[in-house]
Amino acid sequence: MIEEYPFDNASAPAADRMSALQAGYDGVTVRHLADLGVGPGWACLELGAGGGSIARWLAAQVGPTGSVLATDVDLRLLADLPANATALRHDIRAEPMPDQLFDLIHARLVLIHFPERDELVAKLAAALSPGGWLVLEEIEPRGQTVVETPDEASAETFASVQGRIIDLLEREGSDVDWAGRLPQVLAGAGLGEVGSERVTTRWPGGGPEIRLLAANSVELAERLAAAGLAEDDLARFRKVLADPRFAVSSYPLVSAWGRRTSR
Ligand SMILES: C[S@@+](CC[C@H](N)C(=O)[O-])C[C@H]1O[C@@H](n2cnc3c(N)ncnc32)[C@H](O)[C@@H]1O
Repeated sequence: MIEEYPFDNASAPAADRMSALQAGYDGVTVRHLADLGVGPGWACLELGAGGGSIARWLAAQVGPTGSVLATDVDLRLLADLPANATALRHDIRAEPMPDQLFDLIHARLVLIHFPERDELVAKLAAALSPGGWLVLEEIEPRGQTVVETPDEASAETFASVQGRIIDLLEREGSDVDWAGRLPQVLAGAGLGEVGSERVTTRWPGGGPEIRLLAANSVELAERLAAAGLAEDDLARFRKVLADPRFAVSSYPLVSAWGRRTSR
């Protein structure tokens, strides 16, 4: 089993992947963080900040009396942070937590890839200030369905290639069922007031969100070929994703939160 993060911010499709994630999921993320009350003066950690849209949104909420630490193993896509936000190259797996307690720690689509994911949740929970919130968001990669298709062949191409992509990610160490267990994992890390919500939306062919699947198919192309997927199948898959007559449900996003209630 390969235990590395399966994508690379240095790859050509990485910027596309970040824009698609932002288009697909920022609305849900922002709603949850706002519901938890993030506001002036909060100290926040945005872990695996990627393109930084959530770090920038948090910085606007916490204002000049608050702070946002935006961490990632690769900072190249994390530009234009405001004065109250700091980018830090940090590997959550290999390094100790920054020497600070946080009122909010948020990580979206980061921990699912790592075999020691449950232990990392405990590590994050220990870095919360009393009353602080840990918010984790992960996708259910096998929860996608075709909702509109111009013909049966397009639906079959999608199901077959997307299935091969998820198989590959699973072989490389991602736990595709982990999102559904997030509430138990947060409770297991000693957090209280645990809650969760699962959201699915519609991703039309050619739209900004479905580009996530196209970008991933470009980045994983060599490994998919090595696993026996024909180049023609990948080309057909990308054509289907670009067709406005085609639509899929999004990867369902599970957002889960828990609070440090003890001192
Ligand atoms: C799928 S992207 C998600 C980005 C962002 N959280 C979002 O949802 O838009 C995962 C991010 O986690 C970062 N990452 C991977 N391994 C990491 C590690 N060990 N420590 C911190 N960040 C990591 C990647 O570089 C990448 O930017």
